[in-house]
Amino acid sequence: MTLRDDVEGIDAAILMASKVWEASGHVENFTDPLVDCRNCKARFRADKAEKNKDGKLMCPECESTNVTEARNFNLMFKTFMGAVEDSAATIFLRPETAQGIYVNFHNVQQSTRRHLPFGIAQIGKAFRNEITPGNFIFRTREFEQMEMQYFVRPGEDEKWMEFWKQARWDWQLSIGLDKNKLRFHPHGEGELAHYAKAAFDIEFEFPFGWSEIEGVHNRTDFDLGRHQQFSKKNLQYVDLLNNNEKYLPYIIETSAGADRTMLAVLCNAYQEDKANERVVLKFHPSVAPIKLAILPLSKKPELESIADKVFKDFQQSYKIQYDDSGSIGKRYRRQEEIGTPFCITVDFDSLNDQAVTLRHRDTMVQERVSLDKLKNAIDDKFKNWK
Ligand code: GAP
Repeated sequence: MTLRDDVEGIDAAILMASKVWEASGHVENFTDPLVDCRNCKARFRADKAEKNKDGKLMCPECESTNVTEARNFNLMFKTFMGAVEDSAATIFLRPETAQGIYVNFHNVQQSTRRHLPFGIAQIGKAFRNEITPGNFIFRTREFEQMEMQYFVRPGEDEKWMEFWKQARWDWQLSIGLDKNKLRFHPHGEGELAHYAKAAFDIEFEFPFGWSEIEGVHNRTDFDLGRHQQFSKKNLQYVDLLNNNEKYLPYIIETSAGADRTMLAVLCNAYQEDKANERVVLKFHPSVAPIKLAILPLSKKPELESIADKVFKDFQQSYKIQYDDSGSIGKRYRRQEEIGTPFCITVDFDSLNDQAVTLRHRDTMVQERVSLDKLKNAIDDKFKNWK
């Protein structure tokens, strides 16, 4: 977000007045249709269950069709504010970070003196009482969202929708996701959320099938309009560049899950290299948790002093692991398994030639690089990563 000069950051509240969730439509609409199986007592989502050949809903546990009618179940977690636990004190844990941005739109716009178009972004926890959490961290009840709301002049929304679809697609590629495992899924009529005029999911091909990792939505002026109506506060934008016209901006939203992205990154990177009997996480360097490993071949002080110096020289620029235990082969395997792009080995020749071995995780190719050229060589390899 700091790389864009048209986006501000915010850290909004997790607990907000329940009126916020009435205004957003979540109290009324944020529901899953739930069905109970009379036979095995399982509870499941009607929209995810299969039907038999007569078109009757089947229980996913026991395949019985003796099931109840679907009832809407709200996914928001409730809690109470203050000392009294009655309905007036009921509040909700936020099911999306977006609403915290909408209720702060005016404050941010006024305090930063922004003209449209501009965005407000935040990363933070969201909570949903999911009925069927699972697939590891794909669907959990507590998860991290990375959302950005981009405020635009009505009429320019479709243009900006296209812009953000492309920008988010490019971002998914920039973290190393394979373009053959990514696709857009446009929402059809019945799929659109209550707030959306148009919506596209970016889907990733997980081992369990194609599933959404991010949504790009045209939310129109629905959200600001509803917050204006429920709060009775004027949220109109005064367009100083267009004859002081007053209007509610349209919103293009990009909404990604950090956990789901992480799962996609892990699935994308995991490779069993049978020929070399190794498991490698082929992370793009931008998401590799450790960028470099420094491996002195022995614990002899002469070698360690060179390794320590390399460590100190690189520490400010890269997240590094220093490992001097076990055979060098085992140490390489360890780094491959956590996805470290490069290993730097300090060996006995280093004492004479003032050079080290640079080993590439994916190709296992080793090259000799002199210490005075090492920093440039590594910076270059990260910059021109393929
Ligand atoms: N503000 C719009 C919004 O929240 P969403 O499609 O419901 O849209 C956006 O959620 C993203 O949040 C999803 O693409 C997904 O990455 C993530 N997400 C949603 N529910 C999740 C859950 N239960 N567990 C993990 N991630 C989830």
